[in-house]
Amino acid sequence: MLDRQDMPAAIRRADYRPPTFTVDAIRLEFDLDPAETIVTAELSLRCLTETAFPLHLDGEDLTLLELSLDGTALDPAQHVDGAGRLVLHELPPRAVLRTRCRIAPEANSRLTGLYLSNGIFCTQCEAQGFRRITFFPDRPDVLATYDVTVRADAGSCPVLLSNGNCVDRQSLPDGRHMARWQDPFPKPSYLFALVAGRLDRLADTFTTRSGRQVDLHLYVEPGQAARAHCAMAALKQSMAWDEARFGLEYDLDIFNIVAVADFNSGAMENKSLNIFNAKYILADEATATDTDMELIEGVVAHEYFHNWTGNRVTCRDWFQLSLKEGLTVFRDQEFTADHRSRAVKRIRDVRTLRARQFPEDAGPLSHPVRPDTYVEINNFYTATVYEKGAEVIRMIHTILGEARFQAGMRLYLGRHDGQAATCEDFVAAMEEASGCDLVQFRRWYSQSGTPRVTAQWHVEGPASGAGPGAGGQALPDGGCLVLTLSQDTPPTADQAEKVPLDIPIRLALLDGEGRPIAAWLEEAADAAPDRSAPGEHLLRLTGPRQRFRFRPAEAQEHAPLPSLNCGFSAPVILHADYGDADDAFLMVRDPDAVNRWEAGQRYATRVLLRMAAAEDPAMAVDGRYVDAFGGLLRDEAMDPSFAAVAMVLPEEGYLADQMAVVDVDGLHAAREAMLRAIALAHRNVLLGMHARLQPARPYRADADQAALRAQRNAALALLGLLTEDAEVQRLVMAHYRDADNMTDRLAALTVLAHHGQEAARNLALADFEERYRGEALVLDKWLAVQAQAPRRDALATVRRLLDHPAFRLSNPNRVYALIGAFAMRNQWRFHAADGGGYAFLAEQVKKLDGLNRQVAARMAGAFGRWQRYDGPRQNLMRAALESIRDMPGLSRDTFEIVNKSLEVGK
Ligand code: TRP
Ligand code: ZN
Repeated sequence: MLDRQDMPAAIRRADYRPPTFTVDAIRLEFDLDPAETIVTAELSLRCLTETAFPLHLDGEDLTLLELSLDGTALDPAQHVDGAGRLVLHELPPRAVLRTRCRIAPEANSRLTGLYLSNGIFCTQCEAQGFRRITFFPDRPDVLATYDVTVRADAGSCPVLLSNGNCVDRQSLPDGRHMARWQDPFPKPSYLFALVAGRLDRLADTFTTRSGRQVDLHLYVEPGQAARAHCAMAALKQSMAWDEARFGLEYDLDIFNIVAVADFNSGAMENKSLNIFNAKYILADEATATDTDMELIEGVVAHEYFHNWTGNRVTCRDWFQLSLKEGLTVFRDQEFTADHRSRAVKRIRDVRTLRARQFPEDAGPLSHPVRPDTYVEINNFYTATVYEKGAEVIRMIHTILGEARFQAGMRLYLGRHDGQAATCEDFVAAMEEASGCDLVQFRRWYSQSGTPRVTAQWHVEGPASGAGPGAGGQALPDGGCLVLTLSQDTPPTADQAEKVPLDIPIRLALLDGEGRPIAAWLEEAADAAPDRSAPGEHLLRLTGPRQRFRFRPAEAQEHAPLPSLNCGFSAPVILHADYGDADDAFLMVRDPDAVNRWEAGQRYATRVLLRMAAAEDPAMAVDGRYVDAFGGLLRDEAMDPSFAAVAMVLPEEGYLADQMAVVDVDGLHAAREAMLRAIALAHRNVLLGMHARLQPARPYRADADQAALRAQRNAALALLGLLTEDAEVQRLVMAHYRDADNMTDRLAALTVLAHHGQEAARNLALADFEERYRGEALVLDKWLAVQAQAPRRDALATVRRLLDHPAFRLSNPNRVYALIGAFAMRNQWRFHAADGGGYAFLAEQVKKLDGLNRQVAARMAGAFGRWQRYDGPRQNLMRAALESIRDMPGLSRDTFEIVNKSLEVGK
């Protein structure tokens, strides 16, 4: 166990100080070798302040072989402190520091710094990996130009890459060769990258709108180039879109992407040399689903967009991480929305936010979009910084409108180009360019927690007599609808006191047919600058409680029904006066597709929670909801991509978040019973849908065909619950067997593995395993399907699969597919009452911590919401957390997560 004095110290945003020295230029030389790589660095240091000493350069796991200052050799042993940093007691205002270090890439299992992935040398420097390569002020506000020479064995490393332009290539003695790369743009160390290995290349070009021809090179493991076309197309689309929508052009003559098998996160935006988890590059119809392809497009776009929002303008310090991440996520969301169904993209993003960010904000790891403190920065690449950060940008966009938002972008990028900036700089630019007041809005950056907005409404007659908010009541001429909105944010683990936020709420008032009515807003807190739809209003809820009076242009036969928070305009939890009848109406009639989906989800949530509370959930199925669902299914005019998301019931994890104490078994039983009831009641409609929606052959990956497959597979998933129905089971088997693409095959495999009878299940799983032997990324799907199975033996299966030849604890994709899917996507089995799931996860976290602490810490996050469960489960989870915390030599990454989780229990 860690002693108090060994506890890793927290770093505070308030303690930020500008650097005392900067590095104007760095020359690096790499002599690559798996066991002993020699890194020579020459730093041109320049003093920025008067009192600069002693100067500490970051370093970690480096063996310093030589050290010299302006040509004078110094004793390495005298200049490295206990923490591994290089200490210089005195320096002239300008100096050239030269170091020679030894590192061991093949021993680097943490996948940060320089490491080997399937024999390929590659780097991951964000956030603090560069210090594992050489001594350097490893902070994002030190921007240098890089001149990099790479020497390696020509046979095993024919490809040598780094940032910028290749200025020299030569053969060397002893079968080695070299390449020299220069990056003209000053950049922080976290954007440095190097790749060397045996790789195949897919090449293409893009001509920017000002006529610059850019070489696009996509590098993959040998034999995989045919699977890189989807990513290449996405890259070109991203480059064109950033010009068209944001007016932003690429700035070098070359753009490289490398895909590697072992990678901690999705991908990394290193200047002109993006490095990707192979999972976000490699795709073809036989091995990737439509969803995978959409994800790939989004990640390729995201990393490309970082060239402006991240690289040209970077972050001053890591507390500002959302400056680049929230903004870039917003940009990639808009990219996908502009190319596919905007509504469905929004619905998916709302689902992710609710599944990942809301729980984070309500648990022990709660933090603001711009955190105030951290122990390990790698733990802050969170749903809050990314997804809630993107929501904050989206709200600014909603308040300003597209034109003024883009003016703000131009001001921000123009003003801070080449600089390390802050979230405040961004908001100030948006404010200045638009003339909009964002003073109170800034609190979204500093306040954690999800605001709750409560909405109530009633009709007031012309004479002033206030009527109750009864549903069918008329709204006479001269009357108005009074809407009261209030907000409060519950205290969070990190912040007790909360203040009101500036919350933009889009809304429409709907008549009895679901049409928005024209109405005047009488006491506008703030008028809408841009109305995105006729009859829509934009309110800004700034106080704890506000009243808004709407006077319809014409008398209404029925009191209008407000459709609130259209397009999910604010990331809040909405409590409104809707009843089952309102939601049944809105789920088919609301013209705002996001709210149409929302009404269906809200209705289902209410029904499922009622069922879960019943003695026997299966006996408590709500027939009216089953009927309403049938209305959805019979609407053949519905956009298939929308229908596909509308046909999915809220996940068990989301339902659990709505309960004071999670009823693990009740929720599971209720949801399964409802799915079965829907399938039974609408069997023939679903069969008809399955027959009708078969896309034309040949297979195309485009959005139209993908939408048909998605809806058809949603029908299949429901039908799959009818385990005893021989005709349906034959259909599922045929769907599996006849699939000519991974989307359909995986959909059928999931149905069989989750609900199929033993023989069919085993047959399909064995066939899939055999068919994709050696295809690691496809077998990840096979692992995940089994880990998520709602079956009593799920944990036993997961334990058995740990020994499967396709599984490797050292590869993050495998860990997420098996251990992550079980702990985070199988609520029913992970939270099994016997604690087996908890003991299993604790065991794996402890093993992982010595191997890859970033992945271990992420897995440990699955215990985060332990206090929301019943007493016996709490005790089991607390014991599991304590056993991790007490492990000798625990990393500070895992320690921070586990300790914060335990602290809230005190
Ligand atoms: N900057 C990357 C992105 O969002 C994130 C990232 C890549 C990362 N590699 C990482 C974060 C390693 C933490 C650790 O595009
Ligand atoms: Zn990013």
